[in-house]
Amino acid sequence: MLERLQKIISAAGITSRRASEELILAGRVTVNGAVVTELGSKADPAIDTVAVDGKPLTITTKKLYILLYKPVGYLTTLDDPEGRPLVTDLLKEVGERVYPVGRLDYNTEGLLLLTSDGEWANQLMHPRNEVEKEYHVRVRGKVHKSQLDQLAGGVEIDGRKTAPARVAMIKEGEQNDWFSITIHEGRNRQVRRMCEAVSLAVVRLRRVRYGMLSLGALKPGEFRFLTEAEVGGLRNPQQKPAATTSKATRATSSSRTPQRPRAATVAAPHASAGKRPSSSKKNGSPRKP
Ligand code: URA
Repeated sequence: MLERLQKIISAAGITSRRASEELILAGRVTVNGAVVTELGSKADPAIDTVAVDGKPLTITTKKLYILLYKPVGYLTTLDDPEGRPLVTDLLKEVGERVYPVGRLDYNTEGLLLLTSDGEWANQLMHPRNEVEKEYHVRVRGKVHKSQLDQLAGGVEIDGRKTAPARVAMIKEGEQNDWFSITIHEGRNRQVRRMCEAVSLAVVRLRRVRYGMLSLGALKPGEFRFLTEAEVGGLRNPQQKPAATTSKATRATSSSRTPQRPRAATVAAPHASAGKRPSSSKKNGSPRKP
């Protein structure tokens, strides 16, 4: 991926971005042997040889992988003409651009992955890989078994039937019922539209699982970095989850048991935000918004 030269030089640990600009202006930087003195110039660190004073840089471009508990009232787009809050506002301390893997609606909360690794994101979102997404849905009034059966069998949205889903009651209340639904497609507003199709009014929607990853102990607005095992595990979509996502689901669901990866144990939230993880143990610690 093309990046600005000053970013490449500072990422290699030579000096700050500001001082890198001075190196460029002073004609001390070459790309593939040619001197470059323009500040806007870019190179691809994976392909090009960038050198300072004739010495090639050793570049380790570390990709970022983040699991965020997206709160209600945040957009997963990267900008908004109306100035509404963006999920990236919650990740300012990360200091680098990361992109959401797929989307969650403004009014949907829960597990959102973000990364600077476009290839990884595309792999996860590719329909062929059928990565499971589990949602907990609170609806107005009662959910009837016939409605759950319809959702499980597939309902028509946009003139096309949805793939079979796994559904289970979680909780019955006086005003609202909760149920879980696990799908692997990623159609726009899919769960809300599936519910509409069976006359269920959604009052709350939370994604609790994405592939092998669960929200764990994260609270709305908190995030943590993924461990290497988690990043690798999601690359291999055949890997099935290894622990349940919630007591409610465990108690009532007839679905395949979702699992939490061993390395993803989430510690109590702490305030040491702003630092990248240097070990997989740190990766599991949630950061406050
Ligand atoms: N389905 C929806 O309806 N909304 C989301 O945000 C995600 C899945």
